[in-house]
Amino acid sequence: MKKFIAVLSTMVMLGTLASCGDNSTTTDNGSSNNGTKTTTTAKADETTTKAEESSSGSKTVGIAMPTKSLERWNRDGEYLKAQFEDAGYKVDLKYSDNKTEQQNNDIQSMIADKVDLLLIAAIDGETLSQTLADAKAADIPVIAYDRLIMNTDAVSYYVSFDNYTVGKLQGEYVRDALKLDSEAGPFNIEFTAGDPADNNAGFFFNGAFDVLKPYIDEGKLKVPSGKTTFEQVATPTWSTDKAFENMQNTLASYYSDGTQLDVALCSNDSTALGVAQAITQDYGGSNAPIVTGQDGDIANLQNIVDGKQSMTVYKNVSDEAGVTLDVAKAILSGQTPDGNLSLSAEATFDTTTYDNKVKVVPSYLLVPYVITKDSLDKLVDTGLYKWDSSNKYLESTASTT
Ligand code: BGC
Repeated sequence: MKKFIAVLSTMVMLGTLASCGDNSTTTDNGSSNNGTKTTTTAKADETTTKAEESSSGSKTVGIAMPTKSLERWNRDGEYLKAQFEDAGYKVDLKYSDNKTEQQNNDIQSMIADKVDLLLIAAIDGETLSQTLADAKAADIPVIAYDRLIMNTDAVSYYVSFDNYTVGKLQGEYVRDALKLDSEAGPFNIEFTAGDPADNNAGFFFNGAFDVLKPYIDEGKLKVPSGKTTFEQVATPTWSTDKAFENMQNTLASYYSDGTQLDVALCSNDSTALGVAQAITQDYGGSNAPIVTGQDGDIANLQNIVDGKQSMTVYKNVSDEAGVTLDVAKAILSGQTPDGNLSLSAEATFDTTTYDNKVKVVPSYLLVPYVITKDSLDKLVDTGLYKWDSSNKYLESTASTT
């Protein structure tokens, strides 16, 4: 079955790559949130003026993405490249195969090539300090993309979603689906969290756990495995295979006696894919446990249609790319972006939440929302997904973006 999941992961990856096309020169080289905030309202006009184009024409933006093996980063890379190029910038986009050393080397080579700005989605937020010190010495501004970069003063801005809210939406979904405020329970839940090297993972877990903890304390929600800390349920590299194995072990150890599993709270779609597969294969109960996710990956949207996953928290990464472009443009034209920056999508300017242990990094946080089987059309409305020829499943329009 391990093999099946490996094949599944590969299929997901290949499906993604196929759907994304390959119109770029990229390679994978082998392979609690309560700060003071200002809301910046979206502006509709995305037109780039001729003047802007000519001032950006000579500038190059280096984009470092973690890996092509997790679906969303393929979409991020494609949207970022397209939007920056449309605005007149040259783009150097590199994927680093989820290897920290490779990402350091890739960024070093962009610094050597004298890119004008770096956008980095870190593989391990803790491992880039020296490389970013070199970027700073070369006067290259750095935007942390989606994941915060830790232990450095060289990161100027952070563009992401409200990560705590992502988890909170998952917790609230579970609370409402089980009617925890009115039903007596008890219900059984298990948690699957993300990669400890990714600063986002703790925010997602805490957002969900903070909603559900009162019900756990009250005894309405039980965790038969006893695993209730982030460290106990983390999934290195957000691996589908690892999440699958962990869930298999949990089911074998705590549910083989007929105990009912009501909820598998998964922080994102890559882990939800493995967990749903373990449930399909190894869970003996007659109920369909609630499975949460995040991202709107194609395989997970398929699972939502098939009743194997209940919801996903959707993050429009095309909008994330757009806001990143807004911030980058401002920096490259000598401005200091703040809460007054005009943005192409709704985002909150946050100057208190994201402390990277050296500085609190000013952040633009976009708005995530829940998608269920009943609201898949909302994804079609974004223009980033379309119904397939059977009209049953969604596919990405990313390759034509
Ligand atoms: C992103 C998630 C994604 C995860 C694994 C996180 O940093 O915010 O959207 O699911 O990485 O790729």
